[in-house]
Amino acid sequence: MFNIILFGPPGSGKGTQSEKLIEAYGLVHLSTGDILRSEIAKATPLGLEAKSLMDQGQLVPDAVVIGMIRSALDNNPQAKGFLFDGFPRTEAQSVALDALLQQKNTEIGVVLALEVSQDELVKRLLNRGLTSGRSDDTNEAIISNRIAEYQNKTTVVANYYRQFNKVVAIKGEGTVNDIFSALATEIDSRLAK
Ligand code: AP5
Ligand code: MG
Repeated sequence: MFNIILFGPPGSGKGTQSEKLIEAYGLVHLSTGDILRSEIAKATPLGLEAKSLMDQGQLVPDAVVIGMIRSALDNNPQAKGFLFDGFPRTEAQSVALDALLQQKNTEIGVVLALEVSQDELVKRLLNRGLTSGRSDDTNEAIISNRIAEYQNKTTVVANYYRQFNKVVAIKGEGTVNDIFSALATEIDSRLAK
């Protein structure tokens, strides 16, 4: 089993690259943002709890997302590996993920960290907001909140995995295909070991 965390700030291309990576490597894509948006669309109690926080660009509580990931891992016993997108986002989530994977006798193989300038992030998200229907893409103040949450609470996730030498920085600006190639090179070199 080979498990990957695709890490990076809002708008860095995690979702875009995840689509290509799951196709190329046969991984199960676990995006906590996508799962939360589907709970909102179904108006479940969990979705209703998450909506007001997501609309403001704030993180939802650790216990909520950790529970979602626990279920997703349990529901995919045959997976060749998982691609985590938008999770973990706090140190507590990182510790919980490692424990959940350890229970399944597996671990994170690599953390691929997309690096994109703040100006480019804001530009991409405002542009997507014109058509996405995502409430958190529609104004610059909310986008700034999302980036601030990332800086205040999520950058520690990279520090956490750096202590295990698992983090590789990838330039997240350029064409989608070039970025995909850079990600694939890192994955291939680890799979070959
Ligand atoms: P989530 O859904 O994870 O959103 P996010 O991290 O804010 O980022 P995005 O999904 O918007 O960006 P992305 O990096 O996937 O980039 P994308 O490929 O879409 O989280 C949403 C909310 O849910 C959070 O704010 C929080 O409230 C909650 N949440 C989720 N997970 C949580 C957790 N673990 N703990 C607590 N709360 C959680 O690309 C963005 C745009 O750029 C697209 O339009 C795309 O077409 C474009 N683009 C992509 N690549 C390129 C490129 N190379 N060049 C030009 N444009 C590009
Ligand atoms: Mg995304």
